[in-house]
Amino acid sequence: RKFNVAVVGATGAVGEELFRVLEEYEFPINKLIPLASSRSAGSKIEYAGKEVTVLELTETVFEENDVEIAFFSAGGSISEKFAKFAVEAGAVVIDNTSHFRMDPKVPLVVPEVNPEDIKLWKETGIIANPNCSTIQMVQSLKPLDELYGIKRVDVSTYQAVSGAGKKGMEELVLQMQAFFAFNLEDAEKSAFPHQIALNVIPQIDVAQDNGFTKEEMKMVKETQKIMHRNIQVAATCVRVPVLRSHSESITVTFNENVDVDLDAVRNALNNFENVKVIDDLENKKYPMPLIATDTDFTYVGRIKKDIYASNIIHYFNVADQVRVGAATNAVRIGLKWIEMENDI
Ligand code: A2P
Repeated sequence: RKFNVAVVGATGAVGEELFRVLEEYEFPINKLIPLASSRSAGSKIEYAGKEVTVLELTETVFEENDVEIAFFSAGGSISEKFAKFAVEAGAVVIDNTSHFRMDPKVPLVVPEVNPEDIKLWKETGIIANPNCSTIQMVQSLKPLDELYGIKRVDVSTYQAVSGAGKKGMEELVLQMQAFFAFNLEDAEKSAFPHQIALNVIPQIDVAQDNGFTKEEMKMVKETQKIMHRNIQVAATCVRVPVLRSHSESITVTFNENVDVDLDAVRNALNNFENVKVIDDLENKKYPMPLIATDTDFTYVGRIKKDIYASNIIHYFNVADQVRVGAATNAVRIGLKWIEMENDI
């Protein structure tokens, strides 16, 4: 069986990647319906060697096109306003924005970690895709939690500009060009709170009352929801001038009595679906954004036992933000949903 599939935000960074991933994973598509704002309506996207016309996102477009699966990636306010029309038309919505993630009725899914939660989709018609930083982190936490039981996670991120969409990627490139033209002062600086070229910015999203940012609190709450446990998490989220893969320096504290065996840790990580260990410091081998970019794996390396406590480890985790952190996770959710709900 094949499905009528809509992509809301078809002209955005994640939307464009979604078409590539849908094609690579041979997603069973009957009709593809790319949707964006009136600005892009009429333009073409390429899918499987064919041109498909972008339609304007409207309240009625889902019903008119018999949409059965709708990927949303056009920002939280668009999902807030339009997801209900897709649901009313009978579609399952796979939403990439933060809008529905913490709604207790909406499942929040990383298919390698909590696929069973997809079954809860029926209540609202919506399945939420977690924040990009959360996805790659929980893919490494899940096997470690099964191995030893995690008590606490401390994470600092090095997040690529792609997290701010096409606009963010363009702004980094334009600022770098302006730097080499000795004209950085005049370059546009609007996608981030400060200049991003030649800088790192320890703020992603807005401040919260507790001193953390909204992005940092997303990592806390989403991790707990996906893992179904109140693991303690403290995050510091930092924007770096990297194009499209996020890195994370992660410290995991296991339960008190654990004496970590690093070989067991490496095995558990390597055997987990879509996680790869690259960990050979002497030969300068470890995960980096340039290795992860354009792949569907979460890479883990620099794995080490704490110098003072036998129940603590530290490691480095890298994944492509646009794919693993967004498009690929959404497509994997879609494929699992098809498998679970349609017995294919
Ligand atoms: P458009 O190109 O027509 O503005 P990104 O995350 O890379 O910035 O992309 C955002 C995506 O969301 C784009 O595809 C954009 O379409 C889409 N979008 C933004 N605002 C709207 C809107 N009001 N209605 C429909 N799509 C929108």
